[in-house]
Amino acid sequence: MKQITHTFDYQIFDSALELQSSDRELLDKAKEAVSGSYAPYSHYHVGAAVKLANGHIIIGSNQENMSFPAGLCAERVAVFAAASNFPEVPIASIAISAISDDFEVDEPVPPCGVCRQAIVEYEMKFNNKIRIVLGGQSGKVFVFQGMGSLLPLAFNEKGLAK
Ligand code: THU
Repeated sequence: MKQITHTFDYQIFDSALELQSSDRELLDKAKEAVSGSYAPYSHYHVGAAVKLANGHIIIGSNQENMSFPAGLCAERVAVFAAASNFPEVPIASIAISAISDDFEVDEPVPPCGVCRQAIVEYEMKFNNKIRIVLGGQSGKVFVFQGMGSLLPLAFNEKGLAK
């Protein structure tokens, strides 16, 4: 038996004002993307902005549905749109933010587990780490250098591709 401990690094900024300009701009796009959210059931509006290696920025927002499981998270809306429109261009970074109708989102908004798996797929596809910028409407911002930090031991069955 062997005991393994995984550790990961991330950066914590006290506010978005401390971010490098490219991260701040992408987080601003994620905040803008919130306006496209359709969230009549949770009242929690999420925005995501994906930056591609060619500089293009593609946004997404959560889209809910009366049949709850039919809805989709902002991150997957953005990442799937990016991959559909630019299938050969690696994703460089993604920023995520949210607004609630009911409370102040003053902490970084982390992607759900399914979105982590969806995003890591494109890291694997392009062998290229995706920078992840997580913010609320206010408060601290977390920056990760790749999805490996947020999803250790991600499902990765290469045999499925054969
Ligand atoms: N949501 C996202 O858009 N991204 C996440 O990573 C987690 C949750 C959405 C789904 C749903 O519309 C609302 O937030 C509340 O769960």
